[in-house]
Amino acid sequence: MPLGETKRVGVVVYRGARGQKINAWRKRSPLNPYWLDWSHLRQSVERLAPHASGVLLDVGVSERPYGELFEPHVTRYVGLEYPPSILDKQPDLWNILDRAKRSVDVFGDGNELPFLSGSFDTVMCTEVLEHLPQPDRVLAEMSRVLRPGGKMLATVPFSQPLHELPSDYYRFTPSSLEYLVRGVGLVPETIEPRGNFASAQGAMLSQFFLRALGAKKRQSDGSVILSRWRSTLLLPFLAMIQVFFHWASKVSNDTTVCQGYSVVARKPHAASEVSAGSETAAAS
Ligand SMILES: C[S@@+](CC[C@H](N)C(=O)[O-])C[C@H]1O[C@@H](n2cnc3c(N)ncnc32)[C@H](O)[C@@H]1O
Repeated sequence: MPLGETKRVGVVVYRGARGQKINAWRKRSPLNPYWLDWSHLRQSVERLAPHASGVLLDVGVSERPYGELFEPHVTRYVGLEYPPSILDKQPDLWNILDRAKRSVDVFGDGNELPFLSGSFDTVMCTEVLEHLPQPDRVLAEMSRVLRPGGKMLATVPFSQPLHELPSDYYRFTPSSLEYLVRGVGLVPETIEPRGNFASAQGAMLSQFFLRALGAKKRQSDGSVILSRWRSTLLLPFLAMIQVFFHWASKVSNDTTVCQGYSVVARKPHAASEVSAGSETAAAS
């Protein structure tokens, strides 16, 4: 598509290469109405990256948003996507975003991973488990393809509006994560909250005002089509909300509500390690 050309696809407006650069800058600033969510998720994935090594499998890679964070730590980064979600639900998006095409190495289903047991040193999934009706089944597959001693890395949401409907099944707590991870024979090393009560409220308020005052249409998948002018006028107000709650989150240590969790778990060398590992560091 030529530079400067504009095309609307669902909630995404594509404005050519220059527009993408401006969007990339805006995404990293409070002028992004989802900045509080985005920045905390990004920070928690940055903390996961040094745990990765060797050959890594990213289940539900989508547009490979964290490729550059993990690639320095691994010898190979394999991105797996599930064709029914990426191709059926978002065909137009797929057509216009070259980045999306380059991100997927293997098409397959997380419920039946097309790899031999013990093939990977690291397996990860970010914001995927809530979209699977049987997260234990996918975790069992991730555990199977992991070599003994390898690491499983995951992030999941806790406080987040429904999205990608109807495929939004769960929100997770530290206890459910520990239960699920142990249930597939992995030893949880850390389960950490991302953000806290304050940042979660700020993120929610920003989204609430954006949806209440800036949307012109609600879509069946839970997303909204924004009114260009109303949503642009709202941006400074949403930025103020987010900056206020960002600073509030610096002086709060209440994580009984947070934005989500990140998990580091290890595949034990021997089954006895799983039961002996009840000294899990479930930090919250
Ligand atoms: C919210 S997106 C997260 C994408 C990406 N990991 C990220 O952090 O931005 C959820 C992803 O899970 C993928 N997914 C859904 N069902 C799946 C399945 N059965 N196997 C593998 N991936 C699946 C979707 O295609 C989608 O890319």
